[in-house]
Amino acid sequence: MTQSDSSAPGTGRETPHLLRVGLVGCGYQGNALATAVGRTTTLHLVACADPDQEAAARVAALAHDVKPFSSVEALLDDASVDAVLVATPHHLLCPVSLTAMRAGKHVLAEKPIGLNEQEAATIGEEAGRRGVRYMAGYSCRFSLARHVHDLLAAGTVGDIQAVTGVFGCGPLNDGWLASAETGGGSLLYLGSHLVDMLLWFIDDRPVEVSGSIRRRADTKVDDTSPFQIRFSRGMVAQCLVTQAASTFFFMVDIHGRAGRVTLRGWGFLQFEIEVSSTVNAPFTQPTVIRPQIEDDNITMMLVPELEEFARAIAEEREPSITATDGRRVLQVLDGVVASDRHGARVSID
Ligand SMILES: NC(=O)c1ccc[n+]([C@@H]2O[C@H](COP(=O)([O-])OP(=O)(O)OC[C@H]3O[C@@H](n4cnc5c(N)ncnc54)[C@H](O)[C@@H]3O)[C@@H](O)[C@H]2O)c1
Repeated sequence: MTQSDSSAPGTGRETPHLLRVGLVGCGYQGNALATAVGRTTTLHLVACADPDQEAAARVAALAHDVKPFSSVEALLDDASVDAVLVATPHHLLCPVSLTAMRAGKHVLAEKPIGLNEQEAATIGEEAGRRGVRYMAGYSCRFSLARHVHDLLAAGTVGDIQAVTGVFGCGPLNDGWLASAETGGGSLLYLGSHLVDMLLWFIDDRPVEVSGSIRRRADTKVDDTSPFQIRFSRGMVAQCLVTQAASTFFFMVDIHGRAGRVTLRGWGFLQFEIEVSSTVNAPFTQPTVIRPQIEDDNITMMLVPELEEFARAIAEEREPSITATDGRRVLQVLDGVVASDRHGARVSID
């Protein structure tokens, strides 16, 4: 059994089995994940790790009896955990996940799960070898992308013919996001979200990528990247990812012969979806949907993501977002980099 038995035998007040988790990486997203764990009914935070001891202490203070550590190795040596949540800078997502899986732990790791397809492949192989569950943390699938996915699954646009997708943010000037060695730049940070959404929405496999990358003169990481993905049945997605915007924003515009769905947003809580359809009756006139916002993005996106992770472990099945999904995203992003380098289209079939 991989989950702790926190029942109280004989008291008549059996509590549910809780998945004991350790969090590695206690920055922005680590704080959000730790807060989300506290709002679930199936996970329990028992330890956290960060070389920045103040960051670890801040996360430890979010719940009772959370032990702070300075590394994933120290956490795994000292704390009894069933699973590890990984929210480190991009260059550490893969090595930390491998360390945790080699210790027999289930892993949920943040997007983009690694620096490239090769790392993602290693992760998938290790999860298979160790018999543990691995989930890729593409949290948008539990919120804004889910609404679009539901509309597409209802046949709102018919077969998708063409897509335009844009993700942007303000300049990534500091820290690991401003260095290529640590996986900085907007392609991995935001482009991963965009490509994951497109691959989830489009029921076809990408076969070719072409693109170009304008790099920042100072940090040398990618600044603005226009790229195109061609799918096996001829569908084309035209994409743009940039850190040269004034603020965070996104737009995904999906066209089919029967309709159009456009997702636009300015934050994980500020978004709307415009729908028009000749076959989905409520949308015969263009209609703007503003889904109901629950509390904050932690409740909307991360709580259902964590609950799904815990359910997959309890039910001994693959989580809804796998290492293979993460690998497919990185295959496309690797294709953009290769296309820019060679000045040519790149086959990724
Ligand atoms: N799903 C989402 O919506 C979402 C949103 C933001 C960030 N993210 C992802 O979360 C991850 C972290 O991003 P962030 O914004 O929290 O970054 P951050 O810089 O705020 O936090 C990273 C933390 O990792 C720590 N760290 C560095 N080396 C470490 C090591 N060896 N072991 C343990 N911890 C270490 C740093 O000290 C820092 O506290 C990235 O993969 C990012 O793409 C996801």
